This record gives sequence, C-alpha cells and structure tokens, in this order.
Amino acid sequence: MKKFLSIFATMFVGMGLIFSLYGCEPSAEKQCGMPPPNMQKNENSKQTKSFLDLAKERYSVRSYSNKPIEEEKLIKILESARVAPTAMNKQPQFIYVLKSEEALKKAQQVTKSTFGAPIILLVCYDDDRVGKPDFEPGYNFGEMDASIACCHMMFEAWELGIGSVWVRGFNSDNVAKVFNLPKNMKPVCMLPIGYPADDSKPSKLHTTKRELKDTYKEL
Ligand SMILES: Cc1cc2nc3c(=O)[nH]c(=O)nc-3n(C[C@H](O)[C@H](O)[C@H](O)COP(=O)(O)O)c2cc1C
Repeated sequence: MKKFLSIFATMFVGMGLIFSLYGCEPSAEKQCGMPPPNMQKNENSKQTKSFLDLAKERYSVRSYSNKPIEEEKLIKILESARVAPTAMNKQPQFIYVLKSEEALKKAQQVTKSTFGAPIILLVCYDDDRVGKPDFEPGYNFGEMDASIACCHMMFEAWELGIGSVWVRGFNSDNVAKVFNLPKNMKPVCMLPIGYPADDSKPSKLHTTKRELKDTYKEL
C-alpha cells in the first residue's frame, strides 16, 4: 500500500511539473476553459458566434447614433484592411479616413449615401503598386484587392459593434476631383461607419436573398 501511494504521489507531482512548465496548450482547451478565437464572445450580442453567424447578422446600417468611434477601434478596423490578401501581395489598398467636418461635407457632395455616419472610409487602390498580370494586358487587380480590404473592415467593424454600409453610388472622377486625390489613387468604394442608431434595422433587401441551391452548382 505504501509503495502504491508513493508511486501515485510521484505521478501527481510529475504531472503538475509538466503543466507548470508548458502552460496551457490550445488542445487543452477543455482544461483551460478558453474557447478558440473564432468562438469567443462577440461584442455585438455577447453571444458565442461563428463567422457565418456574424456574416448573417451583419446588415447595411443607414442610421447612425452620435456616439463617436473610439480611436483604438478605428485602428483595429484599418488593421483588418492592412492584413487582407492581395494579388501578388502587391498591397495596393489605401484608405482615406474622412473624419473632419470638411471631409464629411465633401463626401456629401459626391454621394447621397453618407447617412450621417461619423466616419467614412474612402477605399482606393494605388495604380502605381497594383498587380498587373501579363496574361491579360490592360487588366489589374485593384478593384478586387480594395474590395477584399473593405470586406475585412466591414466585418471587423461589425464584430466591434460598429455598423457600416458599402457605398458605390458615386462617380470616381468626381471623388478624385473633390478630394484632390493623386492621379495614381483610384477610388473603389466608401464605407460609412458608426454605431447604429437605436432605430436602425435591416432593410427589406437584407432578407431578400436567393435560395442557396440557386447560387451554386457542382461540376
Ligand atoms: C458593390 C456594392 C455597392 C453598394 N452601393 C450602395 C450605395 O451606393 N448605397 C447604399 O445605400 N447601399 C449600397 N450597397 C449596399 C447594398 O444595397 C446592400 O448590401 C444590399 O441591399 C443587401 O443588404 P444588406 O447589406 O443589409 O444585407 C452596396 C453594396 C455593394 C456590395
């Protein structure tokens, strides 16, 4: 019995030593009680959310509250655009943060879709940087790269409790002129962002989606 107890005690101390040396591995999630990052709580609803839940929940916000966006949240949103994939990793995306009264007024001159948002992100691509494949002369990846970056920002914002609406209701030449953009900066879209107003709700279009079966085909 004595021998059995001493073996048990040695094993117990040994395991404690291993845990203290290596800490808590992701695979030991159950022991640690730490959910994986994609299952962590979302600030919008304080519920555990998968990406698909987040994607379904997001809607175009067209009514904003006066609550200003915290600087650290804005930086996170911009960071999500920085890490977006880009063709040939050329990273041509460039974002103008329209925040001043003057810049927001200019935005109103070029599009109807500003919705009183406290910040509008004007997403461009840099034509001097963009990937231009030799297999298709005249084509470049700019619109695609900028759109992916914008998509990242839309979902990062939503995860932080901040609403947005994708806007392309403008003439690119007008935008370039009003904001005096350098010739190489090509406007792709705008993303008004802000905390949704209390009365904000999804438009009818949000729920008017085609059936899944009609949107893909196995070949
Ligand atoms: C490329 C693109 C351009 C858009 N342009 C505008 C726009 O100029 N103004 C606007 O209010 N919404 C615009 N939208 C938002 C769409 O109307 C909206 O995403 C769609 O109706 C589905 O609604 P939901 O985003 O609430 O799901 C645009 C969306 C995309 C993807």
